[in-house]
Amino acid sequence: MNWVEELRAARQGKLIGGEIFFCPEVDSTNPQARQYCLEGAKEGTVILAESQSQGRGRLGRQWQSPAGVNIYASIILRPPMRAASAPHIPLLAGVAGAQALARACGLEARIKWPNDILVNGKKVAGILSEMEAEGLQVRFIILGVGINVNWQKKDIPPDLREIATSLRAEGGREFSRAKVAAEFFEELEGEYVLFLKEGFSSRLREEWNRLSWVNQKWVTITVPGRKFEGRVLGLDADGALLVIDGQEKIQRFIAGDVSLRL
Ligand code: BTN
Repeated sequence: MNWVEELRAARQGKLIGGEIFFCPEVDSTNPQARQYCLEGAKEGTVILAESQSQGRGRLGRQWQSPAGVNIYASIILRPPMRAASAPHIPLLAGVAGAQALARACGLEARIKWPNDILVNGKKVAGILSEMEAEGLQVRFIILGVGINVNWQKKDIPPDLREIATSLRAEGGREFSRAKVAAEFFEELEGEYVLFLKEGFSSRLREEWNRLSWVNQKWVTITVPGRKFEGRVLGLDADGALLVIDGQEKIQRFIAGDVSLRL
């Protein structure tokens, strides 16, 4: 059985990954998933690729997507909720990702706001969430996830080596892509189903804060057109990131990027 068949077998009958469309090579799984979604694919359907020629990251960045080593997946979600709640979905996906990597690989994975997953301070996985709304309601969300699994240190481009890593580079051995993806889909399904029932609960918020790599650190938050420096207090009850500056002024952020202040 190849890894895609193994993953399909592990997810048979489940919500997330119960249906998996596999592309050996694609520009990016996110627009592919959008197309499947528009054609009526059901919630939880996954578009999986062996490689991407134009892998996309957050904030217009690229996502390196070499063949044969990593996971590139886009998940179709159709949550019956207001568009204003959509930023909670990548937060819960970050929690699911960190939990899954810890469970599948025994590595200590942490979340860098909003939803990068780090091991030993370097990024192993990223999430690109794209929503389409109809009025105030969510129409669908495409949750794109890239996990660097068996990428060898020597193959990571030199300009990324300081900030990016893989499970193999940190764990010192190869990992099964099928097992890592299956574990992620399982955790994601658990968090998502709970979220549909409970919304952004205090349990989810506490879990995110427990796994956070940025809490209590001095950081620079970059939002379009503005930079803000301060110490991270964590997520508040609405899922916004609270940051306190040198004058004890607290700011809330629901989107942006964070870097450590040196
Ligand atoms: C980020 O951290 O910047 C987000 C990276 C998201 C990468 C994944 S790989 C599968 C899906 N398809 C893409 O083109 N991007 C996402």
